[in-house]
Amino acid sequence: MLAAIVRFLKESRGYVSGEEISRDLKMSRAAVWKHMQELRKMGYDIAAVPHLGYRLESIPDRLLTHEIQHELLTESFGKELLCLDSVDSTMNAAFALALDGAVEGTVVCAESQTKGRGRLGRGWSSPKGKGVYFSIVLRPSLSPMETAKLTLLAAVSVSEAIEEVTGVRARIKWPNDLLVNGCKLAGILTEMRAELDQVRFVVIGVGINVNNTISQLVDGATSLRQETQQSISRIALLRSVLARLELRYFEMRRAGFGPAIAEWKERSVTLNNRVRVQDPNGFTEGLAVDISDEGGLLIRLDDGSIIKRMAGDVTMVRPVQTGAS
Ligand code: BTN
Repeated sequence: MLAAIVRFLKESRGYVSGEEISRDLKMSRAAVWKHMQELRKMGYDIAAVPHLGYRLESIPDRLLTHEIQHELLTESFGKELLCLDSVDSTMNAAFALALDGAVEGTVVCAESQTKGRGRLGRGWSSPKGKGVYFSIVLRPSLSPMETAKLTLLAAVSVSEAIEEVTGVRARIKWPNDLLVNGCKLAGILTEMRAELDQVRFVVIGVGINVNNTISQLVDGATSLRQETQQSISRIALLRSVLARLELRYFEMRRAGFGPAIAEWKERSVTLNNRVRVQDPNGFTEGLAVDISDEGGLLIRLDDGSIIKRMAGDVTMVRPVQTGAS
C-alpha cells in the first residue's frame, strides 16, 4: 500500500487531497494519514497543507524495492528484488536464493555488508548507504569455462551504466576492475554452481563506490562523488546497471559474446600495456595484446611467445628501457 501511495504522489502534479487518495486507493482518510506518517519515518519528505493536501517533496536516499522498480526498464532483471538493510554479503544471500530455485534476474541488494568480498580472497569495504552493493542470479546455458566472458560482459555493462548516469568513463582493468585515473571505482565478482560441463547458476556481484567521501574509501579507491563532486542517486544508478546488464546478456544469448568483448576492448586500460600478472604459480610479465576466445588475457612475453592467463592479479608496469642512451 505504501508503494501505491508513493506512486500516486509521484504521478500527481502538485498537491493531492487526502480525499482523492482515499477514494482512488480505496482506504479510509485515517489510513491515508497513518501511511503518510510511516512514509515520513522512512525518509520521504511529504508536505501537507490544509485545503490543498499532500505533495511529495523528495524521496529518501535508500535502496527501497518499490523505488528501484518504479521506472525500471527491464524485462526480468530486478523484477524479483530483495533489498536488505545489512547482510554479511549479498553473494551469500543470492547464492542461497539460487539454490532454492530463484528465477533468473533475481537481485539482492543491501545498504551495507559486514563481510563484503572481492576476488582473490579480498574484502570489499561496504559502508552503509554509500555504495551500490548487489548480486544477481543468472542461469545461462554455458560451460563453466565460458563464464569468464560473463564477467567481462558485466564489467562492460557497469561501465556503460556509470557513464550514462554520471558521464564518468571508467576504464576496465582485466578482468573486471573499473578504474578512474588508476583508482578503483567498482569491482565485479562471479561465483557459480556447476556440473562438469554445464553451469547450474551464476551469481554476479557488483560493488560501486558512489557517495563515499575520501575518508570513507580504502587506499587506491575512488568514488563517483569524488570524481564528479556531486551526490549521485544510487537508485538511478542501480536501475541503469540492471538495464544495461540485461541488454548485454540478452544480446549474448542472441549473438554470442562478440559485441560485449569488442566494447570491453574499447574500454580496456589493460590492452597494449605492459603488465605483470600474479597467480598462484608466480608472476608473468609482458605486453597485454588481446583477449582469448574464452575471456583470458593474452600476453606477449619478451621472447615473443604468447601465453594465456585465465585468472590472477594484474598490475601495470613501465616498459623496459632498451637500447643505448
Ligand atoms: C573485486 O573487485 O574484487 C570484486 C568486488 C565485488 C564486490 C561486490 S559488492 C556486492 C557483492 N557482494 C560481495 O560480497 N561482493 C560483491
